[in-house]
Parts: sequence; C-alpha cells; structure tokens
Amino acid sequence: MAPGAALTWELADDGVAVVTFDLKNEPVNKISAAVKQDLLATFEALEHDTAVRAVAFFSGKPENFIAGADIEEFVRLTTAAEAERLSAEGQELLGRVARSPKPLAVGIHGACLGGGLEFALACGYRVASDHPRTQLGLPEVQLGILPGAGGCQRLPRLIGARAALDIILAGKVESARKAFRLGIVDELVHPAILRDVTMAAAQRMAGGWRPRRKRPGGFRGWLLDGNPLGRRLVFRAARKQVLGQTHGNYPAPLAALEAVEHGLRHGMTAGLKREAQLFGQLAVTDVSRKLVQIFFATTALKKDFGIPNPPPPTVVSRLGVVGAGFMGSGIAGTAIAQAAVDVRIKDADLPRVAKGLAAAREILDDRLKRRRITPYEHARLIALLSGSDHYTGFGRAELVIEAVFEDLQVKQQVLHEVETVTAPDAVFASNTSTILIHRIAEAASRPEQVIGMHFFSPVARMPLLEVIPSGRTAPQVVSTAVGFGRRMGKTAIVVKDSPGFWINRILTPYMNEAGHLLVEGVAIEEIDRLMVEFGFPVGPITLMDEVGMDVGEKVVGVMHEAFGERFAPVPAFAGMVKSGRLGRKVGKGFYQYAGGKKRSVDSAVYELIGAHPNGGPRPAEIIQRLVLVMLNEAARGVGEGIVRSPRDGDVGAIFGFGFPAFRGGPLRHADDLGAARIVSELERLAERYGARFAPCDVLREQAQRNAKFHP
Ligand code: 3HC
Repeated sequence: MAPGAALTWELADDGVAVVTFDLKNEPVNKISAAVKQDLLATFEALEHDTAVRAVAFFSGKPENFIAGADIEEFVRLTTAAEAERLSAEGQELLGRVARSPKPLAVGIHGACLGGGLEFALACGYRVASDHPRTQLGLPEVQLGILPGAGGCQRLPRLIGARAALDIILAGKVESARKAFRLGIVDELVHPAILRDVTMAAAQRMAGGWRPRRKRPGGFRGWLLDGNPLGRRLVFRAARKQVLGQTHGNYPAPLAALEAVEHGLRHGMTAGLKREAQLFGQLAVTDVSRKLVQIFFATTALKKDFGIPNPPPPTVVSRLGVVGAGFMGSGIAGTAIAQAAVDVRIKDADLPRVAKGLAAAREILDDRLKRRRITPYEHARLIALLSGSDHYTGFGRAELVIEAVFEDLQVKQQVLHEVETVTAPDAVFASNTSTILIHRIAEAASRPEQVIGMHFFSPVARMPLLEVIPSGRTAPQVVSTAVGFGRRMGKTAIVVKDSPGFWINRILTPYMNEAGHLLVEGVAIEEIDRLMVEFGFPVGPITLMDEVGMDVGEKVVGVMHEAFGERFAPVPAFAGMVKSGRLGRKVGKGFYQYAGGKKRSVDSAVYELIGAHPNGGPRPAEIIQRLVLVMLNEAARGVGEGIVRSPRDGDVGAIFGFGFPAFRGGPLRHADDLGAARIVSELERLAERYGARFAPCDVLREQAQRNAKFHP
C-alpha cells in the first residue's frame, strides 16, 4: 500500500481481504477527500485482484470506527454547488461499495457516525461490538446538514421509514444494542470476537451466502410504513412534529424528511440526487455554520480544564453527597449512572436519606426502562448507592458535593463537618447557586480544597456544569471538579466566583424583564410564545415556574444586592411567593399543573400581581427587550471575566438554559446584530423604560472600534 495511506489491506488464507482504516496522526477516522481517493483506489485494487473473494473491513483505532465526513472540510466550502458535488461524490463512492462484486462485511467497534454509518450501510453485512463506546447514528442534523452520502435512502430501506426518520430527524446516536434491535446491525458480539465473527461472515459471503433480512417491524411495520398510504401518514406526522419542535428555525430536519420521502416515492437514484441537492443548500447556511461552531467549541471544552497548565485530576472512585433533596439525589443518581462510582448520601435523618436514595435510584430505573443499561448493569449500579444519617463512609471519598439548604451558615457548618471526617486531600464542592464560594471557604481549614460545582435541575438531564474556583482553590481541585463533571456527562465551564456566576447572571435580567412586561399588560402565553418562536425551548414565564419562584426570588435578591438597581426585583413577584405559587414543584405557579403536566395559565395570577392583559408593547419590542437585556448583561459579564472566553459564554447559555443554538449563543448573536446597532437600541430602550437598559461599556467600546466577541 502507498506509504502514509489511511487504508491498508492483506489477504487472509481463505480469499478474504482484511482492510484496516487508520487515519494516521488523527484521534478519529474521518472521511476527507484524500480518504475518499484512498478508499476508491483500495476498492478498485480489491475488485481487480482475483484472489480476493470477499472483504472484511475494520478500523485500526482502538476506540473509534469512523466519525463521519471530515467536518472541517465541508465548512470550508463556500457555495451550495461545491457542497452538492461533495455529497454526490460520497454517494458515488458508497454506490460503488454497495455494488462491489466482492461482498463486504464490517466489524464496528467505537463511534460509527454520519458518513461512517453511511459507509457501513452500503456494506453487505454489519457486525458491531456490544461495547458502550460502540455508538451508531446519523447526527448530521445536529450540524445543520443531512446525511448526504446515501443515508437518507439506505436507512429507511433497511429499517423502515418510521424508525429511520426517528434517527435522522433528531440526529440520534444509538447504542450498538439498540442499533441491533432496530436492524441496523446484523450481529452484536463481544469485542473480543468481533474480528472472528466479521471474518466468518465475509467467508460465508465469499461462498455465495447473503443475509436474509426480514421486513422491518414485520406485518405491523408494513401496515405502518411499508405501504404508500401508511408512509404518507408517517411523513405527515413527522413533518408536524418537526415543525412543532423547530418553529421553522432549523431547516435541516425538514430537508432530511424531504430527501427520505423523495427517495421512497421516486426511487433510489432520484432520492440520492435530491439528497445531494439539499445537502448542498444546507451546508452553506448560517444555521449550519453556527451549529458546527458549537460542535467545535464543545469538543474543545472536552479537553479544557479551565486553567493554564492544569495538573492531572484526582481520580474519583468514591463520592460523598451531603443533602438528599432534589439536587443531592440527582447528583448521586447521575454520578452512578454515568461514572459508576460508589456514592454515599448523608442527610440529617433517615427518612430524608431514604427519600433521596429512592430518587437517585429512579434515575437508574429510568435508564433500565429506556434500555440504556441491562438488568445486570442496573443491579451492579444500584449496589453502588448507599446512605446514612452519619458521615460513615466519607473517610475514603475523594470528592464530596454538598447540596444542602441555600444558607451560608448551614453550608459552612456542613463544610466543617465534612473536613473533620474526610482525608486531607479530599475535595469539597458546593452546589450553590447564590452563595459565593470564597464566603463558604472562609470557614474552611483547607480552603484550597473548596470549590463550587453548580449543577442545573434536573441534574440527570441538564448538560451544563459551572465550576467555580475561589481565589484560593488549588489548581488540582479545579481539574478534579472539571474532570469529574465530565465523567458525569456534563459540559463544564470554569467561571468566576461572582454573584449569579454566569448562568444566573444573564438569566436574571431576562426573567425580570418578562415580569416588567407582564405588569405592563402582556399576556403570559404571549411572552412565552414569542420567546419559543425566537428559539428558546420554553418561554421565560414557564422557565420561572420550572426554576421555582422562591428560588428565583432568592437569586434576584442576591443580584440586586450585588449589582444594584438594574437587578431590582419586580415587586409584583413577591405576591407569587407569599401565596405559595412557587411553580411546577407545588402544582401551581403562573400556569396550572396536573399529573405532572403543564396545563393552562392560571388567570387568577393576573389579579395577584396587579396586571391586566391588554396587549402591551408590540411583539417586536417585547422580543427586543427580552433579548437585548440579556445580551447587554452577557457582554458586561465577559468584560468582568465571569467566563474565560466568549466561547464558554455561548456554550454555557446554550447548554444551561437553551439559548437558541442556531443563533450560536448570546455573544455570537450580539456579533450578528452588531454592537453599534445594539447600543443604539439599548439607548432608545433606556430612554423609554429606564436605566436598566443602559448599554454596558464593553458594547460601547465594541461599537466604537467596530469590534466583535468572536473576531
Ligand atoms: N470531522 C472532523 N473532526 C472530527 C470529527 C469529524 N467528523 N469527529 C471528531 N473530530 C475531531 C474532533 O474535533 C477532535 O479534534 P481535536 O482533537 O483537534 O480537538 C478529535 O476528532 C477527537 O474528538 P473528540 O474529542 O470529540 O473525541 P471523543 O472520543 O470524545 O468523541 C466522537 C468522538 C464521538 C466521534 C465525536 O468526536 C463526534 O461526535 N464527532 C462528530 C460526529 C459527527 O457529527 N459526524 C457527522 C459528520 S458530517 C457527515 O458525516 C456528513 C455525511 O453525511 C456526508
């Protein structure tokens, strides 16, 4: 083989050529133009070699099969025509693989994503290892594009339109086990025998054997989507669902739907053509560029410990959690589910501990129910969870996270107790949202071991973690907190020990502004509707109900005290707390809740806060006020170094409270609007509604210098 080539092959005794794909000096295998050439040359050589009767294909990477097309390559494309060509070339290559006279079996271990899965789908037989790292999926729409190398055609033909749309439209990545259940892979085996089983399949195919696959879903599958009528219904339902979820802000899922539908209606060739056209159009959209930037930002954060020259993190194998409430149990359950560490929960009395253990266990039960873990794994993980009303077992914990009542004295008392029972090098992390870490650490005998780890609720689902060192926290403690957060599956950003940290700092003015708008006569549903259309998963009023009015009141109080008048709470909100309308957790807030579901707005709320819905300002003004007040605070926060970079600020806002990803985060959105325009709008709003809108110095300076957060 050519030196430096990514693909190598050798002939085994029985006429099976073993091809290995190993992209040198790269952590993952990806399909670039050079790799395509290499693949083409390799398959040509295999076709012409009469000694080769079948092919077994593997990755040379220990933990990765193929991560898809090279994303860096397609973001460099500037025109839709170029992108369409790229897609068509990929399709041609995979068409050749599919038509190859030498049948191919692939042995998949590690991530098999995007173009990687499209390649596997073009092969005759797929064997996957049952290792947790073996994940298969088509995440393209998460990058604002669609599977453009035949994925929109081959997957529905293999597993049925409904199951394929479920994966393609959400950009889902599935475990090997689920992929096997769906019929994406033909065999699921232990990694130790992956090679042998794949080789055996290739040998069988060399002898003329071909796998016989049943119609996906059997007769029921045929009724659902194996016939034109059923399919039409499936597409209609899928389109409705996509529109309901994306509000027209993300073009990729609808385009993918079209590519699948077109192919099933007009045949493979027409489907591929449409797929390439749509890929071309999507690849050069601003939305795709933004989503790709987020991919690279989160990838960079996976390796970033948030401090210069980070020491290696302490490996945590035992975690102590103090406080068995909603947050504490969420942290405990998630730590076990994700990191399989031993977790000991402590609370003041046994009934509380029991409740916390049950709640933590629910997280594991949920994984079992969703078949993310086997009953065996479930039993093994459950055994890692224990609790007590004493600190027994804390002596060997490398990390203790407290999630007790938000009160400085209570937290300091817990810190003191934990320090007396843990090893000198154990890390103490506070999951506080309102108290400064250096204040908690004032009571510490080992302040260098104290740090903040601010999780978001519900812990099992929210992907962000704010890690907050105080001025005295040791560097290794930062690495340990970030490292463990990552093992818990979180994207961690290291933020400054300042009131509200990053997320509450920029969220509070936004929620407050929603309050001002309510009082001015805008209807609750209208405020929420406009922000959902802007791209948030829920509107600010719903968010207040989710967070809890009591928690919100506390946060605003802290911010008001620290930053003054621009954070002044909306007086009308106090009535909500006093009357016990705390939000979803008590079944009533701005909305009513029944059976865990949000129902209609509780119109009694208007009277309670002294508001009369009468339309209020124009929709465009409402959106502008809510968005600009947040961008202004975000800009100010960047100026104060609350986040280390605009990148962290954007990722934090997207993962922390669902700032619309297609806008790239608040700071990228500010760049798009332009500082000069924002400043002039803020000045107008300040004149009209008060000084809380006064543009911050960072934006003023940017406006003067025509500068941006992301140059
Ligand atoms: N293209 C370019 N670079 C890629 C890449 C890709 N498809 N996938 C991963 N990388 C790079 C990362 O940027 C990172 O680079 P760095 O070391 O320079 O920072 C490096 O590979 C390692 O990646 P991770 O740190 O993310 O490694 P993990 O082991 O944590 O995760 C992964 C591996 C699960 C493969 C993850 O990287 C991932 O999800 N990659 C993206 C997968 C994807 O979206 N594929 C679809 C691509 S588009 C496509 O295929 C279009 C086709 O339909 C035509």
